[in-house]
Amino acid sequence: MDMAKVQPRSGEHNLTDIDVQREGFDWEEIKKDFSWYHTGKVNVAYEAIDRHAENPHKKDQVALLYSAPNREESVTFEQLSKQSNQTANILKKYGIGKSDRVFLFMPRTPEFYANFFGILKVGAIAGPLFEAFMEQAVRDRLADSEAMMLITTPELIHRVPVKELPALEKIILIGNSTDMKDEQYISYEEEIKEASEAFDIEWVDREDGMLIHYTSGSTGKPKGVYHAHNAMIQHYATGKWVLDLKEDDTYWCTADPGWVTGTSYGIFAPWLNGITNVIRGGRFSPESWYETLEKHQVTVWYTAPTALRKFVSAGDDIVSKYDLSNLRHLLSVGEPLNPEVITWGLRTLNLRIHDTWWMTETGAMLIVNVPSMEIRPGSMGKPIPGIEAAIIDHEGNKLPPNQMGNLAIKKGWPSMMRAIWNNPSKFDSYFIKDWYVSGDSAYMDEDGYFWFQGRLDDVINTSGERVGPFEVESKLIEHQAVSEAGVIGKPDPERGEIIKAFITLNPGYEASDELLEAIRQFVKTSLSAHAAPREIEIKDSIPKTRSGKIMRRLLKSWELGLPTGDTSTLEE
Ligand code: WTA
Repeated sequence: MDMAKVQPRSGEHNLTDIDVQREGFDWEEIKKDFSWYHTGKVNVAYEAIDRHAENPHKKDQVALLYSAPNREESVTFEQLSKQSNQTANILKKYGIGKSDRVFLFMPRTPEFYANFFGILKVGAIAGPLFEAFMEQAVRDRLADSEAMMLITTPELIHRVPVKELPALEKIILIGNSTDMKDEQYISYEEEIKEASEAFDIEWVDREDGMLIHYTSGSTGKPKGVYHAHNAMIQHYATGKWVLDLKEDDTYWCTADPGWVTGTSYGIFAPWLNGITNVIRGGRFSPESWYETLEKHQVTVWYTAPTALRKFVSAGDDIVSKYDLSNLRHLLSVGEPLNPEVITWGLRTLNLRIHDTWWMTETGAMLIVNVPSMEIRPGSMGKPIPGIEAAIIDHEGNKLPPNQMGNLAIKKGWPSMMRAIWNNPSKFDSYFIKDWYVSGDSAYMDEDGYFWFQGRLDDVINTSGERVGPFEVESKLIEHQAVSEAGVIGKPDPERGEIIKAFITLNPGYEASDELLEAIRQFVKTSLSAHAAPREIEIKDSIPKTRSGKIMRRLLKSWELGLPTGDTSTLEE
């Protein structure tokens, strides 16, 4: 690689390399940019939308530039403000108020965003779900959060086990449906006709709840990561420093709002900064994404390695068919960014790809590459101002440079999760002394760059999606043919990892391709497509510890042909 090319671009930037390492940084400096710093009245929906709608110079600016195969739409800040006032009025009419959980299970349409802000405007907590979720995944999340209201569509409602969710009072259906007869259902179309465009926003405390994102760990069901309005400070600041957002940018974050990237950086960061935000519905293909970049003259683009790797495979010829000359800043998150992808970016787009590292739990970016920094391909970059990152051992002692250990962050940044819903002990388990422990293994070089090495637990990262092996194993053994199951992530050049399951069969079942496919489909249709194992292998037994825990590490060593290490706890 031509190292000169990964040197910073010249020109003016918001943050210099010296700033990134700066000591004595104070988040107070950022707070002055918010209206609540002067008025004392807080609500992130006001800061992101209404504040711009009240500004004569900004109100007619396009906030949301929507494009899907069958629908194109531009929504200004003023319109989005009024639309979310309407949805807030509907929610309030049906008794939704402060701290209530309202979930969104619907496609990425302009209505999603109007409802999302409506939820925040009444002071409630939003829970966005991936559209790909099937019954079990939906049930787990709505039950755990005790959601009172669900906003969904007639196509998706059939995956919601309404009768098994006692806390769920009402369901708003967007789109016409025959289910409307039931009292529990509310027609969005009927309500919106009547709903006022004026609404008295509910002022909240900065520590009040804003959002719950469910995410997977290595044990147990998905956990509800709970975020407060205060996170806006970091969403806004990293939008400036790392996304490098400027007044006239057109920005596109490709992430779905079911994933934290799709809310922190698909909603909050751009709109807190008053930027035109491209939202794209429909499926992924390299051609359609290039088209979106070209058509909307996107200037700043935040995407993921799994998509970038597909661009690389699609070849350089395709890129040259599109005019991508407006693109000036490109970023990535979710998985390790392969050095060859960085090379591809330099070769085809003449742009550096800026890696960023963070987690659902951290709420916003923590370790990043900013425009003014030299990029070291393969490294995640350096901590943003106000963040102390370190590599620690199991006791919370800092390790010296170049030594591998637990990547940890000193507690107390603005966007840190405030709780794991319903599970205080899980929350506590994230911390050693003053350190939030990420579960990622990494090392730091002499110059303070962090290098990702892998997960320390069994969490799988497939195409950027976090999948807990326990969830998949539990689902597999619900299939009548499966007796036991152990699930691992197997390295894959395009997807990062794929899900591989090892199973034993119940008596009376014979191994066959049809059976394996049926088992795969079973996971796909009852949990979700991304959780379905791409490979299933039948074994005579699954290795377990004497206490009955599945030894996934051993399965992985077998799969990769690695030494098996210590097997003293293996059951006879
Ligand atoms: C992984 C929220 C390498 C990591 C954004 C982390 C990364 C997990 C990177 C969080 C990166 C995220 N390089 N690995 N730049 N960014 N990860 O909560 O293992 O869905 O702990 O992502 O993704 O996953 P989550």
